[in-house]
This record gives sequence, C-alpha cells and structure tokens, in this order.
Amino acid sequence: MTAGPRRRVGVLVSGRGSNMAALIEAAADSSFPAEIALVLSNRPGAGALDRAAAAGLPTAVVDHKAYPDRESFDRAVHAALVAANVKLVCLAGFMRLLTPWFVETWRDRLINIHPALLPAYKGLHTHERALADGVKLHGCTVHVVRAEMDVGPIIAQAAVPVVEGDDPDSLAARVLKAEHALYPAALALFASGRAVVDGERVRISGEPAAPPALVWPAA
Ligand code: GRF
Repeated sequence: MTAGPRRRVGVLVSGRGSNMAALIEAAADSSFPAEIALVLSNRPGAGALDRAAAAGLPTAVVDHKAYPDRESFDRAVHAALVAANVKLVCLAGFMRLLTPWFVETWRDRLINIHPALLPAYKGLHTHERALADGVKLHGCTVHVVRAEMDVGPIIAQAAVPVVEGDDPDSLAARVLKAEHALYPAALALFASGRAVVDGERVRISGEPAAPPALVWPAA
C-alpha cells in the first residue's frame, strides 16, 4: 500500500473498542501505512484495553477522575502519546471532550469517527434522531478533529440505507459495520498522505472513479 515508513498511531478509547479492533486488524498487515503504537483509555475498565492487550499491543490508562481539570488530563494523555512516539491520533469511541489546547497541539494529526453523515447529526443519539427525521440514508464519517465537537475536515464517509422497521439498535448495527470498513480505509488514506488537509477540506489524490449514486429505496 505504501513504500514509506508506517505512521505510529495512538488510539484513544473509552468503551468496547470495536473500531479500535478494526484498526488493529487492518494494521496487522505490514503493508498498511500505519501501525498501532499505543491504545490509551480514560476508563480503567474499558473492554478495549483487554482487546488491545490480547492483540499484544501496548496499553495505557489515564483516568480522567484523577485530574482536577480537563487540561491537566489532556496534558497527561499528550505525555503518554509522546512517550510512545505517536505521530497520529485516532479517536475511537473516546467519550471525553478534548480541550482546544490538545486539539491545537495535534492539529491535522487527530482524527475521529462519528456515527452519522456529518455535518448532519453532530453529538449523541444520532441513530434515534435520524429515525425520527425519517431520513432514508444514514452513515458514518471520519474527520479531522477541530475544537468544536464533531466538526472538522471530512476524510471519508460511508452511507447505509435506513430500512422499514429499523429501530435505533438495528440501525446502529448497520452503521457500526460500515464504521469498521470506513475507519481503516480513511486511516490508510490519511497516514499514507493520499488525504491531505487543505484549509477546512481534505483533498484526496488518486481518487478512484465515483460509483453510481446510492438510491434508496430502489425503484
Ligand atoms: C462508535 O459508534 C463511534 O462512531 C462512536 O462511538 C462508538 C464507539 O464504538 N464515536 P466502539 O467502542 O468502537 O465499539
């Protein structure tokens, strides 16, 4: 996939870590342009930590409850990332708002996956809100992080249909499956340098021919 050195990635997690697992699986291929250098959780009991350790990866816990304010927590996270020689950070279900200091320190080296087609449905409960609005397509987005929540240059998106009878759980499961394909693909684009931040947009070089529009429901 790339001839250059693999970018050292830190993955920040808070929960079960299924997206982290997808990144680990992709990075297990030595031709993937990134390697997972550290998995860091703010929650000591996060299931993601066990999954990462089982894959033989270094893990760290920086418990936010041990810090008096957000910035001292963020500085401890930053120190752990630097100590692991991390060059690029992936948020993967990391449930803490990062301070502007952290976001600026990692500017254009910090990416996130969000379970909606941004800029629609920023924030929480995206699947419930999409269902309430009756949208026919929903999905997920990998974007470069800016200080404002769920805002930043979009690297890649995946769309899934909303089908008759969906509830938030069935829709979440369909989106999550798309997330597991999208995040490694977006990380590969970003880590290899094919996706480059240009102002508040991401330019992709060597873009493949666009597929036909996804029309849902199909006639
Ligand atoms: C995913 O839906 C992701 O888009 C959101 O948080 C969830 C994390 O799930 N940011 P997991 O821990 O990766 O399984």
